[in-house]
Amino acid sequence: MSLEGSRHLLELLDIQCPIIQAPMVGTSTPALAAAVSNAGGLGSLGIGATNAEGARKMIAEFRALSPRSLNVNVFCHQPAKLDAKIESAWIDRLRPEFARFGATPPSQLTEIYRSFVEDDDMLATLIQERPKVVSFHLGVPAPERVRALRAAGITLLASATNPEEAQAVADAGIHAVVAQGYEAGGHRGVFDPDSPDSRLGTFALTRLLVRQLDIPVIAAGGIMDGAGIAAVLRLGAAAAQLGTAFVGSLESAADEGYRAALTSGAAHRTVMTAGISGRPARCLANRFTALVAGVSAREIPAYPVAYDAGKALNAAAKAKGEHGYGAQWAGQGAPLARALPAAKLVSTLIEEMQVAL
Ligand SMILES: Cc1cc2nc3c(=O)[nH]c(=O)nc-3n(C[C@H](O)[C@H](O)[C@H](O)COP(=O)(O)O)c2cc1C
Repeated sequence: MSLEGSRHLLELLDIQCPIIQAPMVGTSTPALAAAVSNAGGLGSLGIGATNAEGARKMIAEFRALSPRSLNVNVFCHQPAKLDAKIESAWIDRLRPEFARFGATPPSQLTEIYRSFVEDDDMLATLIQERPKVVSFHLGVPAPERVRALRAAGITLLASATNPEEAQAVADAGIHAVVAQGYEAGGHRGVFDPDSPDSRLGTFALTRLLVRQLDIPVIAAGGIMDGAGIAAVLRLGAAAAQLGTAFVGSLESAADEGYRAALTSGAAHRTVMTAGISGRPARCLANRFTALVAGVSAREIPAYPVAYDAGKALNAAAKAKGEHGYGAQWAGQGAPLARALPAAKLVSTLIEEMQVAL
């Protein structure tokens, strides 16, 4: 992608600088997204763990703070297949850990949130609310959903972790692809968690997709400062999407334990684990990642059913002042995160990028 390509994407998204704050379920907030959009980037809301009503509320909170572009992100995973045997064995495995905090695990696990691929209320809400941008993670929805969102004038983005997924994104009529490298924090956007993972890094994936596709490529994974943004623009990306860099910002919803871990030596070790939610995701190494290390994928309940247990265990531990069981999603660049107000972070990123370019 040339400078021209970057300008084309900025026009599509109606933003002033090639910086996208990643949607982050549980961590991004309307205040964070508004601060980023008001500073000229693209603020994003992760609504993958909420329903249509919750999404509407978050969009309204954003709009009370900013008239600018907003990206609303949904999860497009295949709905979970429940398996009572795997789920009860998982509960039994975690029972002693709950006991350490004087708690009992849930008696059964449920699919705690719905995939966008089957959520008609969410589709109707997005069409009615018409955010400037809607983005997809963990897959792409059926053609009629893409058509309906496009017909409402919404610009669409989707994550891909390899060339095949990226081709499916382009073929689906999505406007731009987010090239998510293996370095990235949070859930890996792989479409089919049962297929082998190519584990491509941001550098190689960005180059592969820029050469392969006619649509703009947005690079994501391990980008923490203006030098990183400039580097991916030089690789041909039209913009950069940063998640972990914004976790430390003052407007994020990261709790005290998460922030403390991010600014400690712990930030130097991240691990990819499916044991917290049921799908591979990159997290700061903590008590939870140690507990599930080495567990085979077959023993872990489906996403997001495993997350039901993970969230309950974290709540039990937190109630006793132990923060080491949180889903502290972070990418490999975590030690470079800065605790700044988001507007200041964006202006610093722009300055650093200009120096580097
Ligand atoms: C705390 C956290 C939560 C995330 N949640 C989402 C999400 O809800 N939807 C999504 O598309 N990506 C999510 N991601 C992944 C980001 O979109 C992006 O790929 C990643 O943050 C880029 O890598 P970086 O964290 O090294 O910047 C999340 C990442 C983090 C760190």
